[in-house]
Amino acid sequence: MSSSSSSEQKLLDKFNKVTESTINSRYFTSILQQLKRELYNKNYIDAFNEEEFLEAYLARYVPSRSIIYYRMFKEMNIKDNAKIISIGGGAGSEMAGLQHYLEDNDIKGVKLDILDIGKWDRVIDKLGTTFRESLAVDFYNKDVLSDEIDYTGYNMVTLFFTISELLIQSKKMTFKLLDNLNSCPVGTEFVVIESCALSNVMINNKEYSIKFLLDYNLNKKWQLINYTPSRWFRLEEDYKYPIKLENSRCFICIYKKISP
Ligand SMILES: C[S@@+](CC[C@H](N)C(=O)[O-])C[C@H]1O[C@@H](n2cnc3c(N)ncnc32)[C@H](O)[C@@H]1O
Repeated sequence: MSSSSSSEQKLLDKFNKVTESTINSRYFTSILQQLKRELYNKNYIDAFNEEEFLEAYLARYVPSRSIIYYRMFKEMNIKDNAKIISIGGGAGSEMAGLQHYLEDNDIKGVKLDILDIGKWDRVIDKLGTTFRESLAVDFYNKDVLSDEIDYTGYNMVTLFFTISELLIQSKKMTFKLLDNLNSCPVGTEFVVIESCALSNVMINNKEYSIKFLLDYNLNKKWQLINYTPSRWFRLEEDYKYPIKLENSRCFICIYKKISP
């Protein structure tokens, strides 16, 4: 195993401890089936509203996602004392991927604020027992489309696997959220990752790419510094985790705030 694969396996080992009792529960398979049905039907609010669905999501999807984010944070070169805010990060994938990266690289003083409409408090507390070295975390139960949120003072804003959910709830309010990000200081990076399967949305019977909508709404205050239209995040076949891990194909947009 290469050193990066063995580090990713260590990340999965941390999850083994956190998700073992959920996976071993006799109800796990049927709860996961119900959850998959809700996600397939894009009933996201229902999917993220039941405690047992949240635990199942943590066990099934968060470990694979956290490896994607671990790889991303590695490339983004996070520095000591960085302040990061994760929109829709309640499931803890961003927290786990970031914490593992910081611990691996001995980076100190990083603060992560997580915003999510789902009641993920218990999941974040549970992850906090294992993913705690080098990272301070606060969770805020917020609807980012209607609650007032202060985006000043962050070095990075992440929106991972969440933008299409926001657009389904309200396109107008999602555009307003993008406008609110203008309060970020110059130099802030705004990083969007979404599945390629969800890269387009319909507005008034016309199909638009999410990338186009981001560019259009972020306008002149942000510069697109990296755009990857399609990237496979494949996990090694010999990784050990008690249930299936997921490969994902995503698009990535990274913007930098360039004017006040
Ligand atoms: C598909 S999950 C992705 C979770 C996480 N980023 C990951 O990759 O594992 C989308 C998340 O967005 C949250 N979400 C959806 N609509 C939201 C809203 N209006 N305000 C805040 N969070 C929202 C959901 O509760 C859910 O946790």
